[in-house]
Formats: sequence, structure tokens, C-alpha cells
Amino acid sequence: MIIAIDGTTASGKGTIAKRLSAHYGLPHMDTGRLYRATGVAALHAGVALDDAEGVAKVARSLDLADFNEADLRTAEAGRAASVVAAIPEVRQALFELQRAFATQPIGALLDGRDIGTVIAPEADAKLWVDARVEVRGERRWKELCGQGSDISLETVIEQLRTRDQRDQSRKDAPAAMAADAILIDTSDLTIEAAVEKAIAAVKAALARGNRA
Ligand code: C5P
Repeated sequence: MIIAIDGTTASGKGTIAKRLSAHYGLPHMDTGRLYRATGVAALHAGVALDDAEGVAKVARSLDLADFNEADLRTAEAGRAASVVAAIPEVRQALFELQRAFATQPIGALLDGRDIGTVIAPEADAKLWVDARVEVRGERRWKELCGQGSDISLETVIEQLRTRDQRDQSRKDAPAAMAADAILIDTSDLTIEAAVEKAIAAVKAALARGNRA
């Protein structure tokens, strides 16, 4: 069984993905980490983020063990991720890794932006997790403040808007809700309620038999 969880930044998709992978006993891949790690590694190596071949080379030799979680979670890492994610050669370099994970015999759950549309269009259940940008901004802002940042809420919301726009308008694999995905809007939901709704949506997709 493959579960695809896509959605916007700070929508709660990561939390939902973790909880669903435990619920269904499926290995989980947070595909955003691949793009974050590529962006961070390129910055460290002094490779310009618009150097398509240079960044693709970084993506091809990526070892996730080289990164600690805190370095990948910064606002800078998120921005760099969304810039390098718009480069087709980078997406190509990371495709096989994700595809192999998705098709392992015991099944898998992946979260990202293009899982239901590009990486695993045959997924048995697809969710698109979203929330109003102001709500997402506040969540992300609190997280960043907790890490010691003094960034303003307005700046965070503006950065999310820019990121959404870049992710949704890129030519290659734009972040998009698959036609057969179920929308989970977490704006007015607690984490528990959002997780419950997501489990119910997956159950419904499995019952209806997403795989045509
Ligand atoms: O989900 P997360 O915020 O960690 O993703 C960081 C960035 O990586 C996104 O803004 C997006 O540009 C890119 N990404 C992507 N495709 C995925 C996962 C992430 O383009 N499957």
C-alpha cells in the first residue's frame, strides 16, 4: 500500500504523515528533507543555487546522514530547498530514490509536493493538506521563535506566500493537488482532529479503491 501526502508548507502535513505512518505501520519518507539537504549542501559547497548542473551534482551525491535536523529546519534551508526544487535536473536526480522507496514491497508513506502526481500516481490513498496562509504563518513563526529567531510574523507570512507561489508555478512537477486526492484543511483543527480526519480520509480512499 502506498499513501501519498502532499500539501503546503506548515500545513501540518509532516505531523499527519508521521502519525499515519505509525498508524498503518508503513515506512515514512519526508521528501522535503531531500530538497532541504540539497539546498543546504549546495550553500555549504559554495555552489550557486541557480547553477542547475552544479546543484544536480550535489543532489546525486547526497548522504542524508551528513545533516542534522536543526540545520535542515531553518527558514534559509526551506527557501534554498524551494529554489533548487524548481530545477528539473535536481528533481530528476532525486526521483529514483523516492520511487524506490515508494515501491518497496512492504508499502510506504511519502510526504511532499508531488507524491500523488509524479512520484507515486498509483498511490492507494492521496491527501492534500492545506491551511490558510495566516494560520500557517503563525505556526511557522512560533516554531522559528522557539529556535531563537526574532523574525516578524509578517515576514514569515510573506515568505510562505513566495514559497507557495514558487512551488506552484514551477514548470517541472509543480506542487498540486492530484485530481483523486482528498483535501484536509487544518486551519481550524487541532492536531488530534486533523489526524483523525486524515485517517478517516485514507480509510475512505482505501474502501473506494483508489488504484483503478
Ligand atoms: O516540505 P518542506 O517544507 O520540507 O519542503 C521544502 C521545499 O522542498 C518545498 O518548498 C518544495 O519547494 C520542495 N519540495 C518539492 N517536492 C517535494 C517535497 C519538497 O518540491 N516532494
